Amino acid sequence: KIDSLLKRMTLKEKCALLSGKDNWRTVPIERLGIGSLIMTDGPHGVRATEDSGRMFAPATSFPTGVSMAATWDPSLIEKVAEALAEETRTLGCDILLGPCVNIVRHPLAGRNFESYSEDPYLAGQIGIAWVKGLQRKGVGASLKHYACNNQEDDRFRGSSEVDERTLREIYLPQFETIVKEANPWTVMCSYNRINGFYASEHTYLLKEILKGEWGYEGMVVSDWGANHTIFESVQGGLDLEMPGPAKYYGRLLEEAVNNWQIEEADVDEAARRVLRMLVKAGKLKDSPPPAGKLNTPEHQALACQLAEESITLLKNEGGLLPLDLSAIKSVAVIGPMAAIGSIGGGGSSFVQPPYRISPLQALQEKLGDTVKIQHAQGCDNFVELPALGPSVLKPSSGKGQGLRGLYYDNPDFSGKPVLDRVDASVDFWWLSFAPLAHTPPAYSVRWTGKLVAAETGRHTLLVRNTGTARVFIDGELRLENVTSHTDQVWPMPTAILRLDLVKGKSHDLQIEFIRPTGVDFPHIKAMFAYTPAPEDDDRLERAVALAGKSDIALVFVGWPEGYESEGRDRPSIDLTGPQDELVRRVAAANPNTVVVLNCGSPVAMPWVAQVPAIVEAYYPGQEGGRAVANVLLGHVNPSGKLTVTFPKRLSDTPAFTNFGPGREVIYGEGIFVGYRHYDLRQVEPLFPFGHGLSYTTFSYSKLKVPTKIKAGKTVQVSLKVTNTGDRPGKEIVQLYVADKQASLPRPPKELKGFAKVSLQPGETQEVTFDLNQRAFAFYDPVKADWVVEPGAFRILVGASAQDIRLKAKLVISAA
Ligand code: BGC
Repeated sequence: KIDSLLKRMTLKEKCALLSGKDNWRTVPIERLGIGSLIMTDGPHGVRATEDSGRMFAPATSFPTGVSMAATWDPSLIEKVAEALAEETRTLGCDILLGPCVNIVRHPLAGRNFESYSEDPYLAGQIGIAWVKGLQRKGVGASLKHYACNNQEDDRFRGSSEVDERTLREIYLPQFETIVKEANPWTVMCSYNRINGFYASEHTYLLKEILKGEWGYEGMVVSDWGANHTIFESVQGGLDLEMPGPAKYYGRLLEEAVNNWQIEEADVDEAARRVLRMLVKAGKLKDSPPPAGKLNTPEHQALACQLAEESITLLKNEGGLLPLDLSAIKSVAVIGPMAAIGSIGGGGSSFVQPPYRISPLQALQEKLGDTVKIQHAQGCDNFVELPALGPSVLKPSSGKGQGLRGLYYDNPDFSGKPVLDRVDASVDFWWLSFAPLAHTPPAYSVRWTGKLVAAETGRHTLLVRNTGTARVFIDGELRLENVTSHTDQVWPMPTAILRLDLVKGKSHDLQIEFIRPTGVDFPHIKAMFAYTPAPEDDDRLERAVALAGKSDIALVFVGWPEGYESEGRDRPSIDLTGPQDELVRRVAAANPNTVVVLNCGSPVAMPWVAQVPAIVEAYYPGQEGGRAVANVLLGHVNPSGKLTVTFPKRLSDTPAFTNFGPGREVIYGEGIFVGYRHYDLRQVEPLFPFGHGLSYTTFSYSKLKVPTKIKAGKTVQVSLKVTNTGDRPGKEIVQLYVADKQASLPRPPKELKGFAKVSLQPGETQEVTFDLNQRAFAFYDPVKADWVVEPGAFRILVGASAQDIRLKAKLVISAA
């Protein structure tokens, strides 16, 4: 079918097929009944965007990638991915852009929260489950970002300089195993260069390794705006350029074929791969209208379960948790993340939730009147001001909350507006004129209404935008930010205005935004932020006083939503604002202090010794507060474990000297990433990879490993795990392999198996592992192959990378 279609297609049509029609759809070829493939983000919910004529409705916001991996439970991830597929279909899309399996190389990297782990084996197993679950339900995955997209600063141009062995052992294995075992419909190449060449034209990575060695038959799509060339990309193995309209493919590609710069066969090869996905998506016939449901009670329950299974109990001295309600009469709920909480990180993966449950709300619902709950925010934690929102805005049209927005299809506010609506806040990314099908290339928007301050004092108003932004207060132009960029802009230019406002006094507010002609990058941002800064900020003192008079203090701290984000790396691992001071002082006021962390990457804990109980909740999605409350109250026994090492200091981390903006980022730590580094250098982490406590205890026994085996044979390992405590619980058993003698330096141990076992009190279960050849192999760059060197190995089984409970020796002899 594909062959016959290809024969009937003109060169122009084939070239058109290799690029987007708009942000999310491929170019349809109506003459031949070929529809569009419709893509959307991904990966922890379906991002309903207001552009490309797509349906707009809020989908379930699940916990992010790091939470998925922290469950160490592929069967749960399959179920979650099935739910994601159903919601993708409901929103009329064919491909969900995920999973993101890039290795967490450095704690400051902006997309750690979206990624799975510092370990390729764990990332691979979770990724396989995600892709299988999704595709089982007829929605295609897009395995991303291939490859070595391990930081955000300079991601559009920087080069990850990685040696061959490191590439093969750390940065590619998860892609390899997912491609081989789950066959994702598409693979998304990354923005960055790898050893000097853009991922989008990387013949070695795309053609030789992915399509050649691994036999990948799906379609390679560029990350959005990652393609920079015509024939290098087509020949290099990039099949589809996104987003559209075509920048380098399309007409220029057609010309390149006509000018004999590139063979038509190369275009055919790419078109064949795109057609294959169109067939899979059923786009060669009349496709049925989208059907299904979003955000069903089942999906909400699954989002809650995923959060519960991921939450990681880092410390629990004296069994402070779960809360003993028979002994507690009052609870102080403290901290900037208690009443709101971050449910996800920033950038393309953020899913606007239909609702969100905060920890405070969930605790109030669950405890009712049985315990006195009092709340004190303590301090702010934002770094960037939050968006100006409905609490201080009234639209000029009188109805609704926010500002009235008049949208014009020209850059100078002329003629009749094409859209007249109320916007709750002015914070847009890829601004588009929903419900219009087509957003004009140049446009202007004027928002009008009243600004009524909630507090008396000095306020800060900020604009962050591409194009031009202006703010008028009481008819006077007070702020203007004009950016001259016509292409990618990051970080976005900002301008700030300080305003003295009086509580309750109303001011006329007018905000203008202009997207000029000639801007060709789709990242359009218009953001107007504002903060009420109370004149006498005694919130910290009040929180400490509340902690002092309560039986228990629960402190919810973390990073504000969007602080960890695509597009930028963070400057430090510290909690933002005065949160460390808040924790320290609360802990000093109340020895029964529990800290709940709301962040997607390792965070510094200078107060770790002072606080008896610490819980890592990650970014737990719309149901997060409920899941956290269930864990604190003991309705759920925590079973998540860390998927990255938490360092004591940033300078202890493996890539400390080799990270950050610049033309080249040297991956100088080589294969010693994550726990491989901490093991080798004997650096003590704050909390090790694989660490996570339970409200019960487990013992490990009866490890069985063959003492001798021939290379090439599968090694069967078994052991027993017993729940030695008094409540049901789940344990994540980890199996590491250590190569004792090798001709090349090897990490002291590497994760090669894991299992999550559910046990009743007193119950024992046998856990088995089959270790194949690859579990013992290293990549020899001289032989250009994986090698298992005969000799002594050790099998290490334990509860974390630093809590090895059982060991056995195994000798591998030549085959
Ligand atoms: C991100 C991708 C995302 C794409 C489409 C890019 O900026 O890197 O992960 O899928 O945008 O939104």
